[in-house]
Amino acid sequence: MKIRVLGSSAGGGFPQWNCNCRNCAGVRNGTVRARPRTQSSIAVTGGLAEGRTTTGSGMPWALVNASPDILFQLRDSPALQPARTVRDTGLAGIVLVDGQVDHSTGLYMLREATRPWLLWCTDSVYADLTRGNPILDVLSHYCGVDRQAMPLDGGEFVIAAMPGLRWRALPVASKPAPYSPNRAAPLPGDNVALVLSDERTGGQAFYAPGLAAIDESVWQAMRSCDCVLVDGTFWTDDEMIRLGLSDRRARDIGHLAQSGEGGMLEWLERLPAGTRKILVHINNTNPILDEDSPQRAECQRRKIEVAWDGLEIEL
Ligand code: MLT
Ligand code: MN
Ligand code: ZN
Repeated sequence: MKIRVLGSSAGGGFPQWNCNCRNCAGVRNGTVRARPRTQSSIAVTGGLAEGRTTTGSGMPWALVNASPDILFQLRDSPALQPARTVRDTGLAGIVLVDGQVDHSTGLYMLREATRPWLLWCTDSVYADLTRGNPILDVLSHYCGVDRQAMPLDGGEFVIAAMPGLRWRALPVASKPAPYSPNRAAPLPGDNVALVLSDERTGGQAFYAPGLAAIDESVWQAMRSCDCVLVDGTFWTDDEMIRLGLSDRRARDIGHLAQSGEGGMLEWLERLPAGTRKILVHINNTNPILDEDSPQRAECQRRKIEVAWDGLEIEL
């Protein structure tokens, strides 16, 4: 399979339009060496029939999370935009890991599709996107959505255009959007991690842009994969508080910070030596965005990669 990181930042993007934190101001005025980043999304292709490769234009892709920046992301990804007919897309389906604004607003931008979108999401995400934030109802006036169930019992699902790529969703501890009735007390299915397995290559990937805690089943899944793309939102649990930007900790909004006891770095350290470790969904306040920061050097020392827009991973 091939994974293309379309957007590597958390909600707000980097730099965030109204933010003058050290990172945002620094990348704007050139005093911080960092790449701008769009909001959280990946595209995946794989499990293709014998003889079909994951290179070139014309192969099917799944869009995992539809970010508000999807139009720019597609513009930067010619392989996702074939021209077989006058209106065309390489996107064969859309998979959502939650119903947050940064992962769902892009659906509006994809309304010109010539057929209903095949869309995989859990029941709670479907409820949020038809009630608190009824994007899917609005879309029914445009291309419409052909919603597909996302099992939470360990069962797999498949996107027909990619028959050899198997998907498994795992409920994870994180947070649904503020318009969810479950915001204060999340339920299984508000947020999921995805395990992707390519039958043809044997490659396996774990993807969880929102992960507040790692339980046994999540840990087993992470250990079994060749590559993990995990929550890289915050370096410290009180990052937003220290900067005076919020009164909430990372864990209060559904994210496990990298540093500190029990933090993401400690978990990643315990993975098998060959596992590729990549941080995604990086908030604009996170010091790892600064390529000259000691925190970035620490990631390098630990062989942890910091995702960037356009990064491609072949498994
Ligand atoms: C989150 O994952 O916490 C989000 O990025 C929040 C948002 O999009 O507003
Ligand atoms: Mn987010
Ligand atoms: Zn900022």
